[in-house]
Amino acid sequence: MNNLKTTFAGLQLKNPIIISSSGLTNSASKNKKLEEAGAGAIVLKSLFEEQIMLQVEQLQDPTSQYPEGEEYLSGYVRLHHLSEYINLIKESKAVCNIPIIASINCYTNAEWVDFAHKIELAGADALEINILAVQTAPEYKYGEFEQRHIDILSSIKKHVNIPVIVKLGTNLTNPVSLINQLYANGAAAVVLFNRFYQPDINIDKMEYISGEVFSTPADLSTTIRWIGISSAEIDKIDYAASGGIHNGEAIVKAILAGATAVEICSTIYMNGNAIIQDMLGRVESWMYQKGFEHIAQFKGLMNAKTIKGVNMFERTQFLKYFGTKE
Ligand SMILES: Cc1cc2nc3c(=O)[nH]c(=O)nc-3n(C[C@H](O)[C@H](O)[C@H](O)COP(=O)(O)O)c2cc1C
Repeated sequence: MNNLKTTFAGLQLKNPIIISSSGLTNSASKNKKLEEAGAGAIVLKSLFEEQIMLQVEQLQDPTSQYPEGEEYLSGYVRLHHLSEYINLIKESKAVCNIPIIASINCYTNAEWVDFAHKIELAGADALEINILAVQTAPEYKYGEFEQRHIDILSSIKKHVNIPVIVKLGTNLTNPVSLINQLYANGAAAVVLFNRFYQPDINIDKMEYISGEVFSTPADLSTTIRWIGISSAEIDKIDYAASGGIHNGEAIVKAILAGATAVEICSTIYMNGNAIIQDMLGRVESWMYQKGFEHIAQFKGLMNAKTIKGVNMFERTQFLKYFGTKE
């Protein structure tokens, strides 16, 4: 499979399939099996700042007469989570030969600077950060959330030398402008996009429930649109497509739109690790049919272009469709 080699965030990958951060990648033994099944790289399950801080908060008792004890406990919670994570990195690195990318979900730039450095020392090949959050405060000022991405990235970049990848959510006004600034502040790559928790309501029990956990192939359209638009505008940074990539054809589409790799999760949950070889086989046979020997030959060939005055990726209305449908 030499012809499937690609690069992502300065890492050499034997193929473009990266297993994205999730429960699939939370142990060294699972990661080893994913490597044996053909994965090109692995992003470890995220270490969640919010979760750690929540536990720390729950430990805090405002009426306590022993604040030093509480400080010790909150420090312990932080370190405990971190040391478990450091073990996951070390154990995965010990059993896998493919790149192992650590992942942190952060919402402030305070905690992570120190954590990021320890993650680098543990041997992670790169660090992926995601700042997934919904903005709901009535007093919110436009652009604050984007600025938080840049601040977190800049603080982390000062303390680590490994490549830093930023995984974005879909709730951004203009991902292109943000990617431009992330590139200027040292991001090696971006991942478009993370998947939000999907809330739903059970109308019989009148209870809040979880909606669809996994993506469907229909989600690919949003991913391809923004990979296509962003990679046409800012071509010096690497892109991984994530969201709705369920088969080999979708990998081809992501690369044609401008990605050098994909980060997949739902299809593996639904079909098992064997889908990796099936997807790679389909990419190879498509390349063979079209006469491409290397991924670089077709990467970005179909990114956002204006053809006869129309840019399909920037189109928002189904003009023709509505024009012909009554
Ligand atoms: C069950 C589940 C758990 C996930 N956990 C994480 C996580 O810890 N960190 C993260 O960055 N993304 C997480 N994701 C998002 C995935 O890594 C991936 O980016 C997203 O699901 C889109 O890819 P897909 O369409 O192949 O599922 C999770 C997704 C699922 C379905």
